[in-house]
Amino acid sequence: MSKPLLQIALDQTSLAEALEVAAVAAPHVDIIEAGTILCLSEGKTAVETLRQRYPKHIIVADYKTADAGSTLADIAFTAGADWFTVMCAASLATIEKAHEVAVARGKEVQIELFGNWTLDDAKAWVKMGVKQAIYHRSRDAQASGQTWGEKDLQLLRALSDLGLELSITGGIVPEEVGIFKDINAKCFIAGRALANPQTGPATAKAFHEAFARYWG
Ligand code: 5RP
Ligand code: MG
Repeated sequence: MSKPLLQIALDQTSLAEALEVAAVAAPHVDIIEAGTILCLSEGKTAVETLRQRYPKHIIVADYKTADAGSTLADIAFTAGADWFTVMCAASLATIEKAHEVAVARGKEVQIELFGNWTLDDAKAWVKMGVKQAIYHRSRDAQASGQTWGEKDLQLLRALSDLGLELSITGGIVPEEVGIFKDINAKCFIAGRALANPQTGPATAKAFHEAFARYWG
């Protein structure tokens, strides 16, 4: 298993604030995400600006698409995104349309796994050619006390066995990364843990140290 990548999720409501966070975080991360909150608040300008400022980073547009797959994928990829998120609850047609746009541009779709989905759904995504999924503990689930457990690890192993490349997210902090040491994780996504410019770089360092400890 190779060492996971580190992704910052910019979930600020203003682009100016997100850019301040990104400026401090960029040297310490591999991937920069225009978060759902930022995209809804500021529109495609968020992705365009991140693409211009960070030409060497992978840029993610976390649109959490539920419908209009090809239109939204086209907006995000034209703005400069490399990866684009679609909800697991979207219809197969929506996922397929977004995936077709991604393939035509040499980009990738990521399926956001929240709530209700099955391994049969995952098999259908893989059959379609989708390569990536994001295993997600939602903010609201975390706030109501949901912790990571054996059920998550079992599902992650099953998804990995299907061939999906996995990002893991949802209030992740460096101290929790070891829980996933037996998982072939492509990436860990952190938003709030990296959002404070005073502590973000040290937290990013702690993530990388944990990656080296468990996957190095
Ligand atoms: C929420 C998201 C967030 O971007 C993701 O969960 C990372 O942020 P945090 O580490 O603050 O949870 O997509 O739906
Ligand atoms: Mg996000």
